[in-house]
Amino acid sequence: MYNTKILGTGSAFPEQELSNHELEKVVDTSDEWIRERTGILTRRKVSEGEENSDLGAAASKKALEMAGLSAEDVGLILYCTNTPDKILPATACIMQPKIGAKNAVAFDLNAACAGWVLGLSVADQFIRTGAYKNILVIGAEALSRFINWNDRNTCVLFGDGAGATVISRAEKNEESRIYSTKMLSDGNYESILDIRFGGSRFPVTEERLGQPGQYIAMNGREVFKFAVRALVDRCCEVLKESDYMVDDITWFVPHQANIRIIEAINKKLEIPMEKTFLNVHKYGNTSAATCPTVFDEAVREGRVQRGDLVLFATFGGGLTSAASLIRF
Ligand code: UT7
Repeated sequence: MYNTKILGTGSAFPEQELSNHELEKVVDTSDEWIRERTGILTRRKVSEGEENSDLGAAASKKALEMAGLSAEDVGLILYCTNTPDKILPATACIMQPKIGAKNAVAFDLNAACAGWVLGLSVADQFIRTGAYKNILVIGAEALSRFINWNDRNTCVLFGDGAGATVISRAEKNEESRIYSTKMLSDGNYESILDIRFGGSRFPVTEERLGQPGQYIAMNGREVFKFAVRALVDRCCEVLKESDYMVDDITWFVPHQANIRIIEAINKKLEIPMEKTFLNVHKYGNTSAATCPTVFDEAVREGRVQRGDLVLFATFGGGLTSAASLIRF
């Protein structure tokens, strides 16, 4: 059995920006409401012709560069997204030639916003058993393509972006590892955060075209309550299993959906905000991309050091929640 290490990180965002003030012109909302209720000031949006896989490829190249690896060293690409380039084939396969990872098998993982933490855990299993040595785990979204710009309950929340991580086998003398990951889904809540049309249950027909079901719909209040409850539970479970206390954590990396959700979780777990990485103000909720992008930022700023104990926590459509405790 081998230990798992995050060897490199990278992120990429579209250039086009959409501020709260610009949204005021599109829908009945205000900068003040969005700031106070979510902490979001602005977000990024893909341009015409720009693809989710373009963002994923740009982030992956940066992560590989940091890891000191070439794309040909990658054995597996796990692309975590719920806004794929196409229904078929996997966005992982569409991205593969964009980086030249010709020795890899590539597939997608859809666990909505929770995707990247679940992807980290899947990669961990392959590394531990020795099946693969280097795995790219990407969390990337082009959510703006699925936004109903008439729905103020959702259109102010989401943004586009990609975070990539190179997950590799740790050397014997290194302390890097993943101590524990806890994950849970409750499919009874499938309808409180979804995109109804476009799958095989409700294929797009002429009648359905342009209807709200083509876009993201959400009962925000219910998701908020679930998020706080579930993340506190998952975090307590990983800490218990790995025999660490909250005070031992060097850094907390929560899903960046809403600053109020993060503050509520921190308060319940008694994690100081100073130990918490945030980028929700700059990019909004980028779903599967939030944890890997905010972590990449912290790595590149030199805030995270090798040996630090890092707690990741996330939730999303499904409803699914997950937490993972790692030694960086
Ligand atoms: O990554 C997982 C995906 N989603 C999430 O994590 C989202 C989780 N939920 C949330 O972040 C919050 O529930 C929201 C930000 C979505 C909403 O905040 P809230 O404090 O729960 O507001 P609310 O839904 O209870 O709505 C309060 C009021 C309502 O008006 P009334 O009924 O009190 O008159 C809404 O119609 O705010 C109104 N409202 C808005 N007003 C201005 C809702 N959206 C907006 C808006 N601008 N954009």
